[in-house]
Amino acid sequence: MQTTFSDTAPMESKRKVFGMIQAFWESQCLYVATRLGIPNLLQSGPQSVESLAATTSTQVEKLYVILRALAHLDVLVEKPGRIFGSTELSALLVTNAGPSMGHFAMHITEPSQWDAWNQLEACLKTGEVPFERANGKTVYEFTRDNSWSGDVFINAMSFLTDHSVDALLDIYDFSRFDTVMDVGGGQGGLISRIVQKSGGKGILFDVPYVTETAPAFLAKQGVEQAVEIISGDVFESVPQGADAIVMKYFISAWNDEDAMKILSNCKKALPEHGKIILLQAFVPDLGEPPESADGILPGLFAVQIMVAVPGGAWRTKQQFKELFEKSGFRLEKVVHTGTNLSAMEFGLAP
Ligand SMILES: C[S@@+](CC[C@H](N)C(=O)[O-])C[C@H]1O[C@@H](n2cnc3c(N)ncnc32)[C@H](O)[C@@H]1O
Repeated sequence: MQTTFSDTAPMESKRKVFGMIQAFWESQCLYVATRLGIPNLLQSGPQSVESLAATTSTQVEKLYVILRALAHLDVLVEKPGRIFGSTELSALLVTNAGPSMGHFAMHITEPSQWDAWNQLEACLKTGEVPFERANGKTVYEFTRDNSWSGDVFINAMSFLTDHSVDALLDIYDFSRFDTVMDVGGGQGGLISRIVQKSGGKGILFDVPYVTETAPAFLAKQGVEQAVEIISGDVFESVPQGADAIVMKYFISAWNDEDAMKILSNCKKALPEHGKIILLQAFVPDLGEPPESADGILPGLFAVQIMVAVPGGAWRTKQQFKELFEKSGFRLEKVVHTGTNLSAMEFGLAP
């Protein structure tokens, strides 16, 4: 009998590849449990699978298979009598107490994204955006037209802000600016934190259906007087009035041509001494560690971005530097935070 490499390969290598193959089983089980609200239901104490199935209108035996798998992954704990309880991991997926990792899990694995991943192979050949091929519209149109998806998306973005903003604000001083504008700022999670910490003024700029949710959010943060909300389209114009623009996980959604249009509109809006602060994870250059300290792999996240939006891929710091230089800016500072939110600060080129 012929011996294949698999017969002699180290078990560690096989485990690694099996892990990659079954990774989507894990994410889909997380999605289903989070969407059904199981982590929410278990906050008040353990429950039987029968009781969870009754509350979530699901089939007991089928739900049991999923909950047992999640217990094997330490997301839940299973006790005798098919009783399930919460763990530290399921607590992260609770969605009824503000933006959480549960919203991020649901956004990344919901059917519209899942269908998009199914189109990845075809789109490698056609060049289309997989999300648009699968859903017939852009991700922003989709989240505008589907209220559940839109709500989950906004909360997922707010969770990502909460997750990493403290590390940024500890080392990046926004108090040297009079007014900071967050372009593509969602419901205002980041700009709220910036004005709270710096004491300055803020502008939140995003598309109208997103800014609709902002007044209530900003009021809850107590910053409704300090932050002006402006709705619009960054491809038409960017409002004036700020001496610093922040863009968090925004420019990465666009290809170079669109990104340069956005940067040109930002340039028109800024005074001569104005700055743009780009905030996100950067794809590491060859030889740099591929994983951020918080476990995010920017190279892998770039594939998700390519599946969802025309941006195609996250860029390395060098690629961002070149993109901004072509748009009339020059790199002045890079600030690493150890999270997936590092900063590149650009000024206007002379
Ligand atoms: C990936 S989200 C990032 C949100 C936020 N910066 C954050 O990190 O939480 C991109 C944001 O850009 C906004 N956006 C998309 N197209 C836009 C446009 N043409 N003009 C202004 N904002 C836009 C979206 O509504 C969304 O809030």
